[in-house]
Amino acid sequence: MHTTILVTGATGTVGCEVVKQLSVQDGDIRVRAGVHSIIKGENLKRLPGVEIVEMDFEDQESLHAAFTHVDKVFLITPFAKDQVHMAKTLVDEAKKKGVKHIVKLSAMGADAEPGIQLGRWHREIEKYIEDSGISYTFLRPSSFMQNFVNYNAESIKHDGKIYMPTGKAKISYIDARDIAAVGVEALTGEGHEGQVYELTGPEAISNSEAAQILSDVTGKQVEFVDVPEDAARKSMAEHGTPDWMADAMMELYDVYKAGNSNQVFDSVQAVTDKKPHSFRQFAQDYKQCFV
Ligand SMILES: NC(=O)c1ccc[n+]([C@@H]2O[C@H](COP(=O)([O-])OP(=O)(O)OC[C@H]3O[C@@H](n4cnc5c(N)ncnc54)[C@H](OP(=O)(O)O)[C@@H]3O)[C@@H](O)[C@H]2O)c1
Repeated sequence: MHTTILVTGATGTVGCEVVKQLSVQDGDIRVRAGVHSIIKGENLKRLPGVEIVEMDFEDQESLHAAFTHVDKVFLITPFAKDQVHMAKTLVDEAKKKGVKHIVKLSAMGADAEPGIQLGRWHREIEKYIEDSGISYTFLRPSSFMQNFVNYNAESIKHDGKIYMPTGKAKISYIDARDIAAVGVEALTGEGHEGQVYELTGPEAISNSEAAQILSDVTGKQVEFVDVPEDAARKSMAEHGTPDWMADAMMELYDVYKAGNSNQVFDSVQAVTDKKPHSFRQFAQDYKQCFV
């Protein structure tokens, strides 16, 4: 008897890793990669046991098709203002279709009181899943190492600089591949129902230390520039970042600077039996993105 697992946001940073890792699992697993755009999903199509389904979280018909005959879901919603509404719609559809387990990508500090906007959105979704009666596992990762690829690679490549308003804050960055590995175990292993995993990398480092590691690995000088809050806001506005997003990001940077992002947990190793990637290992594996 096979198990069909739907991964939403399958072309994103964590989603594509989940799909890749599920595709090489033993057992009769069918992976349904839920992609927003078929073109972006082309690479996933070639993986063994993976089928692509186009889904738009705002289009009920596409959700109906995506969730049909699905047993389990890895639920990712984007960093969007209406992410709570999107997630609730997905949970409703999962319930209608008899989904047995949801692994939700949440965020560290989701249950902090009063917390920050980003966390409160995630907690609201978590609560909705709890109330749905569907079995669940919540993954609450710290900041992704891959953010350096997605948001800082250009300035590293062109100016040798990492610009961020984080001061001397230490952050227990986690590799998205480790988040995916925990998610895959939660979807295919036993004993993860009702569990909440706070996920971090093996160490907390400042962005100056991250810059030093990137310098060592790439062989080019990379410096961290601590950007004052006003300049950070101005730069975000110039890059078209909406106010709600800039506010949410500035709140997050304040959490970092208050020293609330430096805790290290051993949950990646405990769940997967593998050590999480260090920032140095990440930098080596993604070196080509920075040179
Ligand atoms: N980045 C971090 O450091 C961090 C830390 C902790 C938690 N998180 C959480 O992680 C989640 C994001 O995960 P991620 O970084 O892996 O995602 P991501 O790379 O931003 O990708 C988002 C995915 O969602 C898809 N998507 C966007 N709008 C959609 C829609 N209307 N319908 C269907 N699909 C849609 C995107 O497809 P298209 O690109 O084709 O639109 C993409 O595949 C967020 O909830 C965030 O709060 C992030």
